Amino acid sequence: MSTVTFDYQGAVVIITGGSSGIGRAIAEAYGQAGANVVIASRNEADGDEVAALVNEAGGRAFHHLTDVSDPADVESLVNTTVSEYGRLDIAVNNAGTLPPTADLIDQSIDDWNKAVAVDLSGVFHSLKYEISAMLKTGGGSIVNTSSVAGLIADPGMSPYAASKHGVLGLTKAAALDYAKKNIRVNAIAPGLVQTAMIEDWLNDPEMRETVLGYSPQGRVAEPREIADTVLYLTSDSASFINGTVLAIDGGQTAH
Ligand SMILES: NC(=O)c1ccc[n+]([C@@H]2O[C@H](COP(=O)([O-])OP(=O)(O)OC[C@H]3O[C@@H](n4cnc5c(N)ncnc54)[C@H](O)[C@@H]3O)[C@@H](O)[C@H]2O)c1
Repeated sequence: MSTVTFDYQGAVVIITGGSSGIGRAIAEAYGQAGANVVIASRNEADGDEVAALVNEAGGRAFHHLTDVSDPADVESLVNTTVSEYGRLDIAVNNAGTLPPTADLIDQSIDDWNKAVAVDLSGVFHSLKYEISAMLKTGGGSIVNTSSVAGLIADPGMSPYAASKHGVLGLTKAAALDYAKKNIRVNAIAPGLVQTAMIEDWLNDPEMRETVLGYSPQGRVAEPREIADTVLYLTSDSASFINGTVLAIDGGQTAH
């Protein structure tokens, strides 16, 4: 069976956490579709490498050093995007961090604050400045990366689950606030995806068996399987999909 291809020629796209894993696959996919991409991440070398990949794939790209937990960094990211490319059409708020697994009372206050700052406040900061820019040029489309942990909780993940559930609330609230302004805001909830974030789980044979046991399809996703869904959600093919979450989890949350 064939896969769908999209034409994003000339569209301006910000991807936070775009230098690795899922964000990197999303950046490459927009590049192959001809977009002007801004890769926002904290790692300069990785960000520049992904920008080069996007340029080779047929898009245009540059990297902007950004810590999404810092609102001034995110404001600068959006301002730089608009001054380089003239507008902002699409944003994928994908940066995230996974705190250590521990029961709630053993979670440190620092790990809680960090998870909320990146995984939840980072999405709020991004929405605030991205939507402000989109309103000036007639609209846009945004995808926030939540997780299956935004739909259900697994043991030992209270800061991450709370933040990723919060991302779904932000997604719905933003979608309602700007539905009449031609801005759509949706979320994705990936299940297990082969990236550095869950490398330790997959490299530990016992943990690997446990986490693969969560997956009805018995495997983890490749980052490209997440990217394809994001390109669909931001396209005109999804023009009446707004304020919702799409699980991309091989059936993990179906039971
Ligand atoms: N891998 C999975 O199984 C999985 C499952 C569900 C959801 N997710 C979510 O997908 C997103 C991407 O994760 P990934 O799996 O590609 O892992 P990853 O670790 O490769 O990517 C996370 C990216 O976010 C960036 N980041 C972290 N803190 C940041 C900050 N303060 N400012 C800017 N960037 C920051 C990292 O540098 C990295 O580039 C995350 O939001 C994650 O929570 C991942």
